[in-house]
Amino acid sequence: MENTQYYVAKTFAGIEPLLAEELAALGARNCKVLSRSVSFEGDRDMLYRANYYSRLALRILWLQKKFTFTNNRQFYEQVFDFPAEKFMGPDNTLAVHATIADTIFKTPLYASVLAKDAVCDRFRDRCGRRPSVDKEAPDLQLHLHVYKNEAQLFLDSSGESLHKRGYKVQNHPAPINEVVAAAMLKLSGWKADCDLIDPMCGGGTILIEAAMQALNIPAGFYRRNYGFCYWKTFDEERWKQIRREARIKDDVQVDFYGSDINPRFLEIAETNIRKARLEDFISLRQKDMRQVTPARKPALVMMNPPYGERLAVDDLNEFYSEIGDSLKNNFSGCRAFVISSDMDALKHVGLKPSMKAKLFNGPLECRFLGYDLFAGDHKSFVKNKKNADE
Ligand SMILES: C[S@@+](CC[C@H](N)C(=O)[O-])C[C@H]1O[C@@H](n2cnc3c(N)ncnc32)[C@H](O)[C@@H]1O
Repeated sequence: MENTQYYVAKTFAGIEPLLAEELAALGARNCKVLSRSVSFEGDRDMLYRANYYSRLALRILWLQKKFTFTNNRQFYEQVFDFPAEKFMGPDNTLAVHATIADTIFKTPLYASVLAKDAVCDRFRDRCGRRPSVDKEAPDLQLHLHVYKNEAQLFLDSSGESLHKRGYKVQNHPAPINEVVAAAMLKLSGWKADCDLIDPMCGGGTILIEAAMQALNIPAGFYRRNYGFCYWKTFDEERWKQIRREARIKDDVQVDFYGSDINPRFLEIAETNIRKARLEDFISLRQKDMRQVTPARKPALVMMNPPYGERLAVDDLNEFYSEIGDSLKNNFSGCRAFVISSDMDALKHVGLKPSMKAKLFNGPLECRFLGYDLFAGDHKSFVKNKKNADE
């Protein structure tokens, strides 16, 4: 293929294989699962497409050069040779991020400062002025991955992390990350084929991500800014064209129900849902999780109960055992998924999981467990299922 470029999409541990599948479906070639990332190939459109449509990537990096070095001087010279002026001018701002492993640099900060000096010195040599550094919102962000004596220099095409979809007007104090919520929905196998219920919905992340998936709303639909929009090479017409490829549905056959015990959090959910213009699809009500029942069955229940990390609960084990009782008593015939970082509390749900996955909600290691909520005992459920499958 002409004009093949090499990219790396970053994500959380545990999501890589799903991300590789998603990128391949978007047209990426040669997707390879790496640690907390997926490498892939494609043309320039692929860079725009991955940023706009990927629900599972945190950022998309574009490889500019690979080099080897044996000392600081060589590292500096290699970065100096990178033609940053193709992407930015001396009046734009710059940030350099570095990750290092087993190399001559003692700290990533040292590598990033050396690289930043190299880019700035190149500008000073060429036009007498140098860009300034802006760590918060730079016009151009470079990423250097340094392993032993090898370095890869990337441009960060996303800017702000892609989990910032643009619909969170207000923040819940203990939110699930949008990329993790999207991955939970994919892992559950839900295909918008039954109602979705979040009985502890907080700021509404799971509900909004689910409705976006069901209606085919691109992950970046509500977001205005991407790193590449500030590059000199930005092709605005092509970018518009790629966004126009979205085939958003105007209706779905399923409903989305959210509830929470705390009215303050429901207000946050309501604001976010309104920002996403999904209020016609998602119903909210104030309710204790123990009183929630499905409007129709089967339904899929997905919840992110308090972990006791950021929201206090008196007796977490007792609370999780009540979650198990409510699922068993109120949702027979449905499937349920629970994510939590409290492994002990999760055991108190007291149901046998039919699916287990390890996910990370930011820095918190979590278990994501799925339950088939059958009526009666597990033995007869397995027997009936076997008979039905034969
Ligand atoms: C970890 S937060 C959920 C965050 C949400 N996933 C988001 O992204 O914003 C847990 C939520 O459970 C709610 N909660 C706690 N006890 C509850 C109960 N008994 N019934 C319903 N909701 C409850 C809390 O008010 C809180 O909003």
